[in-house]
Amino acid sequence: MTKQLDLTDIQGNVIRAYGRFGYPVARYVFLNIRDSELGRAFVAAVTKRVTTSVEWGDGEGQIKQPNWTVNIAFAYQGLKELDLPRSSLIGFSGEFVAGMKDRRDILGDDGASSPENWDPIWVGNRETRERDVHIFISLNARLTALLEESYQWLVSVVAQHQGGVVILGGHRADDGQLLDYQDVQVVMEDGKPTSKEHFGYTDGIGDPVFEGTPNYDLNVHGRGKQMADGSWEPLATGEFLLGHIDEAHEYPPAPQPVLLSRNGTYMVYRKLHENVATFDAYLDEHGKKYPGGKELLAAKFVGRWRDNGAPLVKAPDAESKAKFDMALLGADQRGKDKLLSDFTYDEDMSGGKCPFSAHIRRINPRASLEMVKGENPGSMILNKEAFDTPGALTNRRRLLRRGLPYGQAKDRSRDDGNHGIVIMMLNADIARQFEFVQQQWINYGNDFQAGSDKEILLGNHSADEKFPSKAVLQVDPDSDQAPYFLSKIPRLVETRGGEYFFVPSMTALRMIAMGVIDPT
Ligand code: HEM
Repeated sequence: MTKQLDLTDIQGNVIRAYGRFGYPVARYVFLNIRDSELGRAFVAAVTKRVTTSVEWGDGEGQIKQPNWTVNIAFAYQGLKELDLPRSSLIGFSGEFVAGMKDRRDILGDDGASSPENWDPIWVGNRETRERDVHIFISLNARLTALLEESYQWLVSVVAQHQGGVVILGGHRADDGQLLDYQDVQVVMEDGKPTSKEHFGYTDGIGDPVFEGTPNYDLNVHGRGKQMADGSWEPLATGEFLLGHIDEAHEYPPAPQPVLLSRNGTYMVYRKLHENVATFDAYLDEHGKKYPGGKELLAAKFVGRWRDNGAPLVKAPDAESKAKFDMALLGADQRGKDKLLSDFTYDEDMSGGKCPFSAHIRRINPRASLEMVKGENPGSMILNKEAFDTPGALTNRRRLLRRGLPYGQAKDRSRDDGNHGIVIMMLNADIARQFEFVQQQWINYGNDFQAGSDKEILLGNHSADEKFPSKAVLQVDPDSDQAPYFLSKIPRLVETRGGEYFFVPSMTALRMIAMGVIDPT
């Protein structure tokens, strides 16, 4: 049994996806540091209020769940402004130092997703020091009124450190308005909160489970790592937290001293606009032709049915879906989680159930990449002996997902407006995990033997007539059906900005605030 992590030292958003813990609204605020000493004093003041990962309870001596949470992270330029010693700064990874905008070619942020089209807050990044994003603060709340309360608290802390930090504006909102913050909230339907995003899919199901987090063994099925005997184990902590052993039995590269990096992690912040009109029109057009109908086609884009997230490998057609839905109805919460997450692609190596270019298969292929040629011409089977764990190639590319949808799709006949997802991905190594997934698995298909086919939902599909995007929806090789070709896939999701951040531990935060980091 692995020892539980020191939850008092780890920021709360690392262990908890707040949306699932009764916080349906959040506000993300970005600051620029104008004076190092006052900036550190500001960090010290915020640190006192930062929410840790400690477990909540109503019993005596337990910490009660707060009405709102506070978390903080830093861009590389921010750490420089706070006077971290040079010998610590050089230990941060190259992509974090460069920042998201400079990594746009790797990320495929071109065309409508290119930085020229990002929200103005990101455009100043690196060009004029005073417009650089240095600090990220996230406020999550139980109710809108409480979110406002948390923001007023933050504004007052900023005011107390006048001349030290300023809140940067420039987040695009409805009707072209520019705001000082990015608001996000769950999508409402008939006045009720849902777990939907704007294309209508149920979201927030699959999140990796790793060693040392509370009750990890209970949720490990389908969310940890697949073992040779068919069981599931939690992933190594070092895939998500610096200063811990990772899946390669190594410590991930991290800055010195150890106290600065241990229990900290990197966070990828991305604001992603969803072209709802284009999505609806494309789905309608192909839904009329697709043999399984529109809803099955929508499920093929993601690998899960829109209404309840039923995974295609378990519910590949209407009949199996009906049975799955019955089982889901009869299950308690833990049973539901297991039904929705506990699956592999072992019995679907042809992609006949869940296509190779579906969102969840591209992003977390589970053990399906360790393939060898089967006996039948062109067939592939799983090579379970390739590594000590069948999913070894994937276990190094997992991402913790945080964030919520933003805006409302007020008029679904239009793409413009202000609606999408703010996604935050936590990982110990941005290049190996997030950037690899984005470059090789979302925008390229080679690992899936899918040539240059991109992931259907997120791929940076080209508007260029010469290079139309396509994706193949495979069929079971034993069936008499033909594969379905999705042609001329339009760009469904566009990047509107983002940055790479470092999320320090509580220990590191105090050291940064006090200016006492000694790398020697
Ligand atoms: C507008 C953009 C996006 C939409 C609409 C979207 C939607 C979804 C949906 C509906 C699911 C299935 C439910 C679930 O498993 O939780 C999902 C899963 C997932 N998404 Fe996304 N997503 C978006 C962007 C991204 C990005 C940019 C990444 C990372 C690069 C990402 C990573 C994941 C991961 C890791 C899973 C879980 C896969 C699994 O473990 O099986 N998503 N997403």
